Amino acid sequence: MSKPYVFLTRKLPDDIVNILETECVVSMWEKEETPPPTSRLEEECRKADAVFCNVSDTIDASMLEQAKQLKVIATMAVGYNNIDVKAARNRNIRVAHTPDVLSETTADLTFTLLMATARRIPEGIDVIRNNEWGAWAPFFLTGKDIHHARLGVIGMGRIGELVAKRGIGFDMDIVYHNRSRKPQTEKAIGASYVDMDELLKTSDYICVQTPYTEETHHLINRQAFQKMKNSAIFINTSRGAIVDENALYEALKNGEIQGAGLDVFENEPIRADHPLMSLPGVTALPHIGSASKQTRWKMAEMTANHILQGLRGEKIDHEVQL
Ligand code: DGY
Repeated sequence: MSKPYVFLTRKLPDDIVNILETECVVSMWEKEETPPPTSRLEEECRKADAVFCNVSDTIDASMLEQAKQLKVIATMAVGYNNIDVKAARNRNIRVAHTPDVLSETTADLTFTLLMATARRIPEGIDVIRNNEWGAWAPFFLTGKDIHHARLGVIGMGRIGELVAKRGIGFDMDIVYHNRSRKPQTEKAIGASYVDMDELLKTSDYICVQTPYTEETHHLINRQAFQKMKNSAIFINTSRGAIVDENALYEALKNGEIQGAGLDVFENEPIRADHPLMSLPGVTALPHIGSASKQTRWKMAEMTANHILQGLRGEKIDHEVQL
């Protein structure tokens, strides 16, 4: 019997490819930072038994209609909003993702963004790089205290909890809003459940940690920004489209909030000429929440193993359930 054919949408290290090559024929898009064009992904989906993809590969219903051979789609990410999971399920294609393994690393980056935005770190770096440092000045580059401030977490899943836990280390007052209450989390980290309005109106820092779904599309919109304190800092390391970016731009420009730390955008890669990038209160990163060497390595290994499990017809460790 011939070996199954697997397509990798990005160049990956030999050790990861070797895991797959023990049982499969592997074809790999040779670029690490540029995704294959849609036409190539379509073609590969038509002939592959499995696809190893990531957050920037859109696999939609029309692509899956042609995917007669495809049995497994494994994404090297926890979020899978780029894959039409329902269409995959209708065609008996199994979808796998990498939850948990990246939670601590993503919480680290979330807190990094929070701190960098609060203390105006990017502006400070620019001052030195541009040789603009005159002298020590009493109110030069003054930011906002983090310790003892109120941290509002929207979405108290695993990453939300870990962000809150980091806030405890800074003596922050933690409030959260979630679809359901989390009594254990409340007890373990001393977080208080509040309704969305109270969270928006009273938090000094607001971190959104929900998955992107139809319900969370533009969850943070004009009305939400208008409820926030003028001194609030908004942080997003989940998915760009949870936020209405035009509303965010207006809120920052009109002083309705003070700053934003963003690792994700509605359209990635965001470009330097995007209006948000013209605002000094914005700290922007190129979707690197889970990007530590250790974590990305584990995610890639997990994804390769999910493909082997799926192709063997075994239980997949982290199969997306509808
Ligand atoms: C994810 O895993 O969903 C991140 O956004 C990419 O690391």
